[in-house]
Amino acid sequence: MDFNKDELMEYFLVDNPDNVMDKLLEFNRLMMKYRSAIREVTTKLEVLNDELSLYGNRNPIEDIQSRIKTPVSIAEKLKRLGKPVNMDEIMENLNDVAGIRVICPFIQDIYRVADMLTRQDDITVIKVKDYIKNPKENGYRSYHLIVEVPVFFSDVTQPMRVEVQIRTVAMNFWASLEHQIRYKKDIEDAEKITKELKECADIIAVTDEKMQKLKDKILGEMK
Ligand code: GTP
Ligand code: MG
Repeated sequence: MDFNKDELMEYFLVDNPDNVMDKLLEFNRLMMKYRSAIREVTTKLEVLNDELSLYGNRNPIEDIQSRIKTPVSIAEKLKRLGKPVNMDEIMENLNDVAGIRVICPFIQDIYRVADMLTRQDDITVIKVKDYIKNPKENGYRSYHLIVEVPVFFSDVTQPMRVEVQIRTVAMNFWASLEHQIRYKKDIEDAEKITKELKECADIIAVTDEKMQKLKDKILGEMK
């Protein structure tokens, strides 16, 4: 099961304990659908990686990670949005219940992979955020896609949303470390630290671009 009974009662507005089991089953069924959507998109990415590695002799995808949002995060986000916590509201309002992170060696690989994925007939692009061309104020860089993919179940075909974050190894290095230290806002020197983190992000971005140019020089632009 994905969460305990007390959490369910508190977050999912279960007023009658007799309903807990039904809610739990319904929730698990929805999470199963998101897990299936992750598998569909992951397979597409793996196929592209396999194929492209034949031509280029290297892998344009270094790693694919995925996660399902935790029940508590789901409930908290809906509450923040002022929405009631139920299955329809999850499907309607949350784009990141299913999340995939794709780690590429070079910046250009990100755009190639994104392009090849979004060109596929059964993929609908809901939203694109290019935090590489437009980095966030804190220096965060990554290419974000919200896509919808049809998943075939026994009785219905359901379009499911998946958040795909595509970034270089270097961008991932910065984001992972920044994520680990970002929550402590009430520290001394916060301003200086923010500035220094941003500097690290910018240094990394310069390095990413240099590595891209070196790669183009050594292997050519098509590989
Ligand atoms: P969320 O409500 O957090 O999902 O934000 P959003 O809907 O505005 O989407 P956005 O594309 O800005 O961010 C989605 C996800 O990208 C986050 O959940 C993080 O995984 C990642 N992300 C965005 N900004 C940052 C950042 O500054 N640092 C790190 N480490 N990750 C970030
Ligand atoms: Mg999120």
